[in-house]
Amino acid sequence: MSTDPQTPLTAGSILNLDVLFNNPVFAGGMGLAGLGAAAAFGRRAAIRGAGLLKRQMLVNVEISKRDPSYNWVLAWLALPRDNTGFIAQRLTRLRNLSVSTTTKSITPGKDEGSSHADFRVQPGFGRHIIRHKPGVYIAVNREKASTTQTATGEPHETLTLTLLWPHRHVLGEIFTEAHQMAHRFHEGKTVVYTAKRMEWMPLGKPRLKRPLGSVILDKGVKESIVDDVKEFLAAQQWYTDRGVPYRRGYLLYGPPGTGKTSFIQALAGELDYSVAMINLSEVGITDDLLAHLLTQQPEKSILVLEDVDAALVNRRPRDSDGYSGGTVTFSGLLNALDGLAAGENRIAFLTTNHIDRLDPALIRPGRVDMMMRIGEATRHQAAEMWDRYYGDIDADHSGRERFLNRLDELGLFGENNQDPDAPKRHTSTAAIQGLFQFNKNDMEGAIKMAEGLIPRTFVAENPSSDGSMKSPA
Ligand SMILES: Nc1ncnc2c1ncn2[C@@H]1O[C@H](COP(=O)(O)OP(=O)(O)OP(=O)(O)O)[C@@H](O)[C@H]1O
Ligand SMILES: [Mg+2]
Repeated sequence: MSTDPQTPLTAGSILNLDVLFNNPVFAGGMGLAGLGAAAAFGRRAAIRGAGLLKRQMLVNVEISKRDPSYNWVLAWLALPRDNTGFIAQRLTRLRNLSVSTTTKSITPGKDEGSSHADFRVQPGFGRHIIRHKPGVYIAVNREKASTTQTATGEPHETLTLTLLWPHRHVLGEIFTEAHQMAHRFHEGKTVVYTAKRMEWMPLGKPRLKRPLGSVILDKGVKESIVDDVKEFLAAQQWYTDRGVPYRRGYLLYGPPGTGKTSFIQALAGELDYSVAMINLSEVGITDDLLAHLLTQQPEKSILVLEDVDAALVNRRPRDSDGYSGGTVTFSGLLNALDGLAAGENRIAFLTTNHIDRLDPALIRPGRVDMMMRIGEATRHQAAEMWDRYYGDIDADHSGRERFLNRLDELGLFGENNQDPDAPKRHTSTAAIQGLFQFNKNDMEGAIKMAEGLIPRTFVAENPSSDGSMKSPA
């Protein structure tokens, strides 16, 4: 619509704003422009206000995935909460959940299909709001960075908690609660870390602590190591005062299946430590990786280097490009133990089946302070193990005596009283454990089957042909 063309325009009418404003097109345009301007102003003000609010009134805490508290806080966030209030019901809901599942077989060997799964629901990626307690809300943002951490190839993750400034004291509560929860979860358990790519990662779920009493070593062996470790732990000040690195190294050597690894795990449980384990015979564990891992060793953990003899094999010097083969070199291992890479404040256990392959440089004090042979089963160990399995049904020890005599007869304690020319042989505690587990609550069965403890030797059928192995009948 426009003004009537017949109406002569006068000066007065030109300035007649009324007409203009009565014009709906113009008025509409102005209105929109005005609204737009107001909106733009309002938005700017709102952004500025929000920025100000954020800076002045909110507290942000960013937790990186690398921090141990990351998983504690995630678990804490997933706790069920009381969301019954009107606002709480509308505002708080963990919308994106993620599930972390761990499975384990319940009856190993019997029924492959039966397993136990443990699901833990956590807040997924994205933003969430939770009500901590009446009136206290926490905004949670779990983010995966688009860039990957080059070391592991895994994207970096962060968790950001945002609270109103007056509620900042709640943060302390949250971390304490989350830590206590994690502690309760780990109570009575031993966490075993292994090297995964470039990081220490827990190997499965924490295991129930193995009681020291369940590892049966020869008379006095266990006590001497445990006493030494405890003495070391009590002597930190002594080391600090003298400027000596607070480190102690132990070497456990002996044939396979004698309880070396089990003992270290039980000791860690006894001391309430976790275990940080590296197998040096594993391909891919290089000098640099070993040095890197030692600088990152988890808090309060015993370092376990298994099969140290593997490093003795790799004595090649570094190539010009720094490559030293697929495994740790001997010098890499020495550096890890007491070179610059070696962490302060550390208990290390080294294990090997081949003490004869070790180099004196490795076992000098400062690197290895105590060496202990964990040997084949002795009479004393066999008797103790018997008591653990059949003590309740063999009250008068008559079964135990028959079992030990049978082992004697078979020459399994290194000598044969009946026949001095018989081969001197030994059995392992692992084999005895296997026999007793097979004959649970059946001591007669265990005695009958004792012959199975004779170690099987494998001989090549025809060494020159294909080197295949066969067990003698
Ligand atoms: N002295 C022992 N006391 C109790 N259990 C034992 C003992 N020795 C071995 N076992 C049992 O045998 C199995 C193997 O033991 P473990 O792995 O500790 O042997 P190891 O000495 O570390 O062998 P390897 O040298 O091959 O690594 C475990 O299930 C463990 O419970
Ligand atoms: Mg072992």
